[in-house]
Amino acid sequence: MGKKIFSGVQPTGNLHLGNYLGAIKNFVDLNNDKDNNCIFCVVDLHAITVKQDPKELKNNIRETVATFIASGIDSNKSIIFNQSSVAAHAEGAWILSCVARMGWLNRMTQFKEKAGKDKEKASIGLYSYPVLMAADILLYDATHVPVGDDQKQHLELCRDIAQKFNNDFDVENFLQVPEPLIQKEFSRIMSLKDGSKKMSKSELSDLSRINLTDNKDEIINKIKKAKTDPLPMPQDIKELDERLEARNLLGIYSSLTNSTLENSVKNFAGKNFSEFKEQLAEELVKKIEPISKEIKKLLGDKSFLDEILLDGVEKANLIASKKIERIKEIIGF
Ligand code: TYM
Repeated sequence: MGKKIFSGVQPTGNLHLGNYLGAIKNFVDLNNDKDNNCIFCVVDLHAITVKQDPKELKNNIRETVATFIASGIDSNKSIIFNQSSVAAHAEGAWILSCVARMGWLNRMTQFKEKAGKDKEKASIGLYSYPVLMAADILLYDATHVPVGDDQKQHLELCRDIAQKFNNDFDVENFLQVPEPLIQKEFSRIMSLKDGSKKMSKSELSDLSRINLTDNKDEIINKIKKAKTDPLPMPQDIKELDERLEARNLLGIYSSLTNSTLENSVKNFAGKNFSEFKEQLAEELVKKIEPISKEIKKLLGDKSFLDEILLDGVEKANLIASKKIERIKEIIGF
């Protein structure tokens, strides 16, 4: 039986290789399976949990749509829309925030990381962000949610919220408890400058990530400058436990070439990093350059991108507005 897929990406600029290998690449595969119904959301309400420049936000929403399309998602098959245009998301988030418990949210590690030392100054939205994410998923009865490893805890919270709602209001199976779809390997791509840190949009150094809008020269340069260690390439997969940068680069290579980490280690065992880096850069250029060129081309046609969103909003609204009405009835409004 086909799956009901829902996932979201924040329009905060600098979509990168981590977003691609951890999430968007899977979106494309799921979109290509004709039995699935897929919904991919540009989560602009999530973006404003930290300060955004309004003009940039508008551009970034379009750029996220362009990235979906350039990566191979078909807007005729999958629904692509932006969250703020479907009112049920904000309504659902409020209602579910009365179901979720403080204790559950206090455990969220991403809030702790993002809020940093001065959490008194973090927005309330940043704190309650996983509840909005739960509303996103539950409004569409999603059965499967493809994400990178960093979203695992948020999905567990979503499952807890769904179960508590169903129990509290005695409506068994009303909210669909979703399954996470997280790849076993390569679901956490690390910074090119520090193998212990996640590749991230907000990292100051642009050399820490491959952006999906990078051109060939930028990709080659970033891989040349990527951090390694002074030893030759590892002989054995066990060495990777201590050699985080080598692990990350070999992981990226394996993901791009659809091979296992073990095979990639075998391929390059004992060689110089420079030789491996040349091959890695080649694979990256092969994959990312066409996407980058297509994103830039699509950004030249704003009305095309806006039409995709308008069409998606209409379709998403039809589904979400029905579900929120049922939710309201159930809680006694
Ligand atoms: P966001 O916008 O931070 O990231 C989008 C997707 O990219 C994945 N990802 C990574 N995967 C591997 N390695 C990395 N370094 C890396 N960085 C990011 C993320 O896991 C994610 O899948 N809260 C979500 C967006 C969201 C959502 C949802 C997702 C909102 N509502 C409902 C699923 C379902 C987020 O901020 O993703």
